[in-house]
Amino acid sequence: MREGLFYRWPLTVANMDPGLAYLLHLIRIYLLRGHVWWHMPLVLTMAYTLFVRERLLDNALFDSYPSPLPRIKRRCNDPVLGDGYIGCFEASMLTDYGFDEQFLAPVTPKDCIARCKTNMFPYAALQKGKSCYCGMWYESEKKVKECKCRKKCKGNKKKRCGGAHHASLYNTYFCTEIMKAARTIDGTCNDLNNTAAGSRFYRFGRNVPLKYAHSNPGNLFKPDPRILARKLLKRKNFLEVPWLNLFAVAWVQFMVHDWFDHGTPVKENRIKLPLQKDDPLRKKMGGYMKVDRTKPDTCRTKDDSLPPAYQNDVTHWWDGSQLYGSDKETHALVRSFAHGKLKVGDDGLLPVDSKSNIDITGFSKNWWIGLSILHNLFTREHNLICDMLAKKHPDWTDEQLFQTARLINTAQIVQIHTLEWTGAILNTEFLHESQIGQWFGTLSPKVMKILKDMNVTIGSSSLPSHRGNPPDYRGVPFSLTEEFVSVYRMHSLLPDTIAVRQMDSGQPNGNKYNLPEYSFGKARRVFDDNELDDVLFTFGVEKSGQLVLHNFPTSLMELRIPRHQAGGRRLVDLATIDILRDRERGVPRYNQFRRLLNLTTPDTFEKLTNDTVTAAELREAYNGNIEDVDLLIGSLAEARPPGFGFGDTPFHLFLCMANRRLRTDRFLTIDYKEEYYTKEGLEWVENSTMKKVLLRNFPEVDGLNSAMQNVTNAFYVWNK
Ligand code: HEM
Repeated sequence: MREGLFYRWPLTVANMDPGLAYLLHLIRIYLLRGHVWWHMPLVLTMAYTLFVRERLLDNALFDSYPSPLPRIKRRCNDPVLGDGYIGCFEASMLTDYGFDEQFLAPVTPKDCIARCKTNMFPYAALQKGKSCYCGMWYESEKKVKECKCRKKCKGNKKKRCGGAHHASLYNTYFCTEIMKAARTIDGTCNDLNNTAAGSRFYRFGRNVPLKYAHSNPGNLFKPDPRILARKLLKRKNFLEVPWLNLFAVAWVQFMVHDWFDHGTPVKENRIKLPLQKDDPLRKKMGGYMKVDRTKPDTCRTKDDSLPPAYQNDVTHWWDGSQLYGSDKETHALVRSFAHGKLKVGDDGLLPVDSKSNIDITGFSKNWWIGLSILHNLFTREHNLICDMLAKKHPDWTDEQLFQTARLINTAQIVQIHTLEWTGAILNTEFLHESQIGQWFGTLSPKVMKILKDMNVTIGSSSLPSHRGNPPDYRGVPFSLTEEFVSVYRMHSLLPDTIAVRQMDSGQPNGNKYNLPEYSFGKARRVFDDNELDDVLFTFGVEKSGQLVLHNFPTSLMELRIPRHQAGGRRLVDLATIDILRDRERGVPRYNQFRRLLNLTTPDTFEKLTNDTVTAAELREAYNGNIEDVDLLIGSLAEARPPGFGFGDTPFHLFLCMANRRLRTDRFLTIDYKEEYYTKEGLEWVENSTMKKVLLRNFPEVDGLNSAMQNVTNAFYVWNK
């Protein structure tokens, strides 16, 4: 696969490190001779990924907001286009939280917000149609029904300014020193020059220019996504990754829930897909598969040149929001408000919601036993960090302990993901070596020696570590992207069945759970029926599914989503939905996507995949039209470097986006420092590994140490 990107590159780039320029020259020669990039020698492969990463960071990031922004702010929850309205609150809150009255006549929300922002307050409140107050803090418990805030504003009769005993509350997006020193609940105040960037409800951005991101309703069923799912995705036999365990599967979903969620789909304008006569779901679904639409943008602007945009229901930042919540209500639910800790039940596990029977945590959709293990693990870890901090700082308040523990816990999750999970799923030498370069900003002795033998010196500034450096936004405000969501559609990692094994003997204990029995409200039963030792051991020794065609869990193709999550119990085929969603959201098809990333595109099915049988299947399913192949299907079918758990196309996008997440976050870059984390906090992060986190949080599990004795990385399969 010759990479197009390199043909158009000049032989050297202005100001490029001479050592890197020489490597670039060698890479071009290799690629022009027809070599696949991963077949190049170690240092060239490493350099190739470095160049591609930088090229994509410069050329493949697009903001979804109109430019220039409309002057008038609207009543919607978008942090950029909206007016910052939070809701109607009891007026007693203003006195309880020391809101200051500002004298403005005649009052309007716009003026009040501007005044409060100028006076360095994060919140503005309006009451009785005539008063403006500014405050530092509010409590979500004091929120009341909208109808209580009906008083017309003296300065603008079209606007409402609270009521006799109630106040309309607004966000000013001003960041106080306290907000700057910790991760905020909604993700504001991370980028201090653009305080709303990456916050909850901020639009997903794009990795392709916006003109290529329009959805074509006429192509939604081209070809029929259900037929593709049945023919190309459905699992025949479980194909497993020999080296990767079930912790790795749960982990990536645990991460995804930190980064993004499109919210609960809506029934308006449902997609109605006719089902074939021989389709086993035809009868159960009444002839059609009805798929709810992605929740539309609450602040859609009428500009047809812009593709539809969607809002992220959680914060975009890598901030542990799956544990801590992205809204005040959830946040209050998970905190104990004592000693900085998160709530844990008497049995040492997360409390369970009595209606859904699912653990109470920051994000609990699409729940299964794997998520339960990790949420319990990192909740315990948070509490352990609080104990460590409290010992060092006995005078600290609950809030100080909580915020510092959150920073530390999150940073170690980031480290585990970058160094361990990524190293396990992309289990290949060049990747392991590149990670050292990216994380520590240095090269290993082995790579240094190779370079020395080649007579190549690389300047230290060519490998900047994100830590300690200023955030690097590349001129585009930080957000995650629709395409990034697409490449994480990794449902094929899941097994249909989990058979629990005894830690003592390594043998099955007789309890076997199909996916519906280990997911949603039934997940907890796996803990209840089995010893904790055996559940953890099973996750360590059982293997994850391969991300290839014909390996989509059959149970997810007939999935019943419970009422509490779907706004009504729903039967869905998740494989069909995975294809449909990309088409609905305007994610380009496989070839177009690669083209737009400046990667080569296969012009025959044989060039797309190494396997002739698969090529024939794809040709038939797509009626011979390679340009129609969906991103998901192409990524599962394509060739990949040995040791890679996923395809070449997702890999290229991850190169860019994984780095972007690290380089843009203030708390992982310039503010990754003692002042916020404490000295002992930084040491905690830097000494942490997944293995250590498991061992220190499950001290009651005797055999854990010996089960993991010979594994260097907790995501590799443990000893049976
Ligand atoms: C038992 C386990 C799981 C269940 C029940 C489940 C279920 C679902 C459901 C119902 C959706 C929403 C579909 C829609 O758009 O209507 C979804 C979306 C998604 N799932 Fe899963 N899933 C599971 C595991 C995983 C795993 C292991 C991954 C791996 C990364 C994953 C990644 C995703 C992604 C990326 C989306 C798209 C989210 C978005 O559109 O914002 N899921 N899943």
